[in-house]
Amino acid sequence: MALARIIDGRAFAAGILAEVTAETAELAAAGVVPGLAVVLVGEDPASQIYVRNKARTTKEAGMASFEYRLDAETSERDLLALVAELNDDPAVHGILVQLPLPRHIDSARVLDAISPDKDVDGFHVINAGRLAAGLPGLVPCTPLGCLLMLKAELGDLSGARAVVLGRSNIVGKPMAALLLRESCTVTIAHSRTRDLAEECRRADILVAAVGQPELVRGSWIKPGATVMDVGINRVAGEGGKTRLVGDVAFAEALEVAGRITPVPGGVGPMTIACLLRNTLTAAKRIA
Ligand code: GUN
Repeated sequence: MALARIIDGRAFAAGILAEVTAETAELAAAGVVPGLAVVLVGEDPASQIYVRNKARTTKEAGMASFEYRLDAETSERDLLALVAELNDDPAVHGILVQLPLPRHIDSARVLDAISPDKDVDGFHVINAGRLAAGLPGLVPCTPLGCLLMLKAELGDLSGARAVVLGRSNIVGKPMAALLLRESCTVTIAHSRTRDLAEECRRADILVAAVGQPELVRGSWIKPGATVMDVGINRVAGEGGKTRLVGDVAFAEALEVAGRITPVPGGVGPMTIACLLRNTLTAAKRIA
């Protein structure tokens, strides 16, 4: 059988960023420059890279970028005070507090202190509730990116059997809600699922978001299925170097799937593109 078609997430993301950049210029000409505030607490190296990339892409799209780097000892009360200030700042349309936060800070309390209208991560319980209830709101960036690619690749998703591996609030649960909204038959599988391989084999659409390197084998995939790999795992490679792999054993999956996202260059680039799309949406609503 022919190899799977590789879904080019970088090309999709570039397309979205071009649209967002054009609409940002229009909004700016009308007097509103969309602004995104990103808050990083502590020195987690991966978070520092993410935050730097977010700020750079924000500026490239013509938006205002506000960066706050707070030291790891920052109190929850000081962080909540900053969030309150950003909620009231008319130049800020989107607020993102980078996760994970240091252990002495209650993440849920901080995320729920962000104004739901500025919650461009879509993590506030109000936005989670809106998504679950089928109401308009801000949707988490990674699942939104997956959905946009799925619809562009497959068109109408209604009736498709979708299996989401992973039940996190950031990816698994919102992904399942989005697929349900598209009238898929949705299964959420997780670490306690009895026969993970068998559940996956039923999927026309398989979204893997568990953070376990190459968990999903080729034999778990239904021939011709569309596979979205959300995992970004750093593993030991040749010559003492590390390499990035997804939650799917890519070479094996390529032989069975109909379409598949690679790691890197698949779902990852869509996350920042959707963050800026959400910031534009928030700015338009607030304006
Ligand atoms: N840390 C890893 N991914 C994310 C994300 O999408 N949003 C936030 N706020 N933190 C993260």
